[in-house]
Amino acid sequence: MKKIGIIGVGYVGLVSGAGISDFGHKVVCADIDGKKIESLKKGQIPIYEPGLKELVDRNVKSNRLLFSSEIDKTIKDSDIIFIAVGTPEGSSGEVDLSHVFDVAVEIAKNLDKYKIVCTKSTVPVGTGKKIKEIINSNKLHAVDFDYVSNPEFLREGSAVKDFLWPDRVVIGCESDVAFKSMIEVYQPLFRNKKPIIQTDISTAEMVKYASNAFLALKISYINEVANLSEVLGCDIKVVADLIGQDGRISPKFLHPGPGYGGSCFPKDTKALVKLAKKANLHIKTITAAIEANVYQKERMFFKLESLLKGNVKGKTIAILGLSFKPNTSDIRESSSIDIISNILKAGGTVKAFDPIANRSMKKIFPNIKYYSNWQKAVNNSDCVVIMTEWNEFRSLDLIDLKKRLKTPLLLDTRNIYDPQKLLELGFSFDTVGRKKNINY
Ligand code: UDX
Repeated sequence: MKKIGIIGVGYVGLVSGAGISDFGHKVVCADIDGKKIESLKKGQIPIYEPGLKELVDRNVKSNRLLFSSEIDKTIKDSDIIFIAVGTPEGSSGEVDLSHVFDVAVEIAKNLDKYKIVCTKSTVPVGTGKKIKEIINSNKLHAVDFDYVSNPEFLREGSAVKDFLWPDRVVIGCESDVAFKSMIEVYQPLFRNKKPIIQTDISTAEMVKYASNAFLALKISYINEVANLSEVLGCDIKVVADLIGQDGRISPKFLHPGPGYGGSCFPKDTKALVKLAKKANLHIKTITAAIEANVYQKERMFFKLESLLKGNVKGKTIAILGLSFKPNTSDIRESSSIDIISNILKAGGTVKAFDPIANRSMKKIFPNIKYYSNWQKAVNNSDCVVIMTEWNEFRSLDLIDLKKRLKTPLLLDTRNIYDPQKLLELGFSFDTVGRKKNINY
């Protein structure tokens, strides 16, 4: 059993802390936000993440998971310290590493014996080297430490599952002692035959950015093929299914939609481009993926405009789904923000509903109307737009939906509904790349 301190109880820190305690270690999750720690002590989870409350409760009950606002004590009491603070996008697209470096100073001041310092926050290649320098130049005692980069690959909405059953665990470190300790942390995964791979520090840092940027690239690619399919009369669902059957491509992340959002892809793609620029390289593929994503978000509004025959002004549009993906309350970089803002600019009215994210979106658009169910949002609207593929939007009663609308106009940006069925029910509709008069 290892004594673990997690600094930063955001989404990554909390899921990782709860997951590592579930592996049998003693974990203290620490944060400078005393309020957050107090509510966690009361069993309140600050984020919506399926399965997280159960995981936290189970490990708190077993005394393996504790919360603290004493960063210094947490560092002193731990064998391994995970840095899991936020790395937001800075004003120029570069990553803001100030929180990470602050924690590094704090670690240095409280380093009283050999410890492992491990970064989970997403940080650009080269950050590990800087963290080591900061600790070395600020430490008060002549003690050693090892540095590890252990990037996370957690998807919001399925983060607990991703943590407990990862595809792989990447351990970037240059010391066998540290690698052995990290293997012990993740020991239970060996039983599930999950690979735990050692790399050097900068390679581990690169794996994270390269993975996220590749997935973003894949989405932008399929979105562009979907847009082309619309024009050429092909059906993207069939195209994506068939290209995905090629084992080299795989069917995952080949779902066209309104453009990717969230806290990672938009930020990490930009950061990779910046990183390349600093190295005097122009990373053309990722730059193109970013541009394609900006256009895809705009394109959803153009589709709406054309469904409404160019007259958005004075029209009421029901938006179903506000979060950037289902099973999360996170609206960061959500395509819903773009479409709502375009509708408002064009003089339309928005009636919004999301099963979880109404409250988050209210902070950005306090003046639009939010509803407690889809029926109320849709009533008397001129058009309905499905922006997030929440399960409850996958099985809407389409006959009831049509009756509630002033005019039967539907924009399905997640390709949930069968175009044939929509045609039969008399909807005028649009999708992302689906053929409208399907006949096969
Ligand atoms: C992502 C990575 O998947 C995860 O490994 C990393 O650690 C953090 O970033 P997340 O942002 O939570 O996770 O969500 P993800 O499921 O990857 O989706 C990101 C965006 O892409 C969403 O807006 C989603 O709707 C969109 N998407 C995803 C598509 O448009 N099409 C797809 O086929 C897949």
